[in-house]
Amino acid sequence: MRALMPVLILASFSAAAAAPNWASVPSKPITLFTPGQTSLEWLMTPGEHKGADRFRAGSACLSCHIGQERVMGDAARKKYDRAPLAAQPVTLPATVQFARDADTLYVRLTFTDVPDAKQDKAAAKVAMMLDGGSTPEAARAGCWAMCHDDSTAMPSGKGPRTMYLGKTRAAMTRQGGSDALKPASELARLKTSGYGIEYWQVALTPAPVATNGVVFDKRAPAKTVVTAAASRAGNQWTVVLSRKLTVGQVALVPGKKYAVAFAVNAGHSAGRYHYVSFERSLILGGGAADFVAK
Ligand code: HEC
Repeated sequence: MRALMPVLILASFSAAAAAPNWASVPSKPITLFTPGQTSLEWLMTPGEHKGADRFRAGSACLSCHIGQERVMGDAARKKYDRAPLAAQPVTLPATVQFARDADTLYVRLTFTDVPDAKQDKAAAKVAMMLDGGSTPEAARAGCWAMCHDDSTAMPSGKGPRTMYLGKTRAAMTRQGGSDALKPASELARLKTSGYGIEYWQVALTPAPVATNGVVFDKRAPAKTVVTAAASRAGNQWTVVLSRKLTVGQVALVPGKKYAVAFAVNAGHSAGRYHYVSFERSLILGGGAADFVAK
């Protein structure tokens, strides 16, 4: 049926009216790759990850690994995945654009779909993580800041456990943080300081269904403030996610630097069988960052 429709527009009404003129917005390519079952704990363990010492000392993934996505994806699948999904390629090239108007930030991603993994009802899911500096591990480790060895389907995972942030746990080991949390007063202090990574997500069912929330001690959905639109031309998906500048966990203001990273479940894949990007920086207005929403 799709072959008869060169472009299938799947717009959710609210975002469409104010959509930026994307033809005049610069785009940047990024390469997402399969992370296998590499967790934050694996990355921090000398003798397992060769960059562990310097990562622990403060280096960011991208500072060592930019341009190595294909090699990383290949190694992660071959060496660090107990049940690899061989039907899909190890990288997912995408283009990313950011734009804003007086009250809204927009992000637009395009990517070409991959073979059908038949794991999920949704044709694809696209997520962006966002932090404004109050969760420093976001700018250094991107999505790995939330990805632990004992999360669902990870090497030490024994059941369902969503993403979480390490500082919410009473103790962290090579196997992750388990379920024992810090005392409530300490968690409250972390929350007040803004600790927590915001996420935006759209599921292409194929009509776009947007969700959003915050990863703190778990992945917690919040009232939906993100809108999404999607279209498909041939095998290529285009998705636009947006939200008002002031309504999320992270207040969006010009001149401030944000950490962003992307995760895409393509070709009906589910859960950890996603493609992820290394962390990138974003600034609104102007300044030095990987992405500038002018
Ligand atoms: C200080 C530099 C440095 C930093 C920072 C760093 N790495 Fe590495 N990483 C390395 C080196 C060196 C290797 C070994 C590469 C090899 O053996 O070819 C490696 C290996 C890997 C591998 C496995 C590749 C293989 O061939 O075994 C993955 C996956 C990986 N890193 C992901 C990450 C992620 C994700 C981060 C950030 C959370 C990160 N790295 C941070 C230096 C670094």
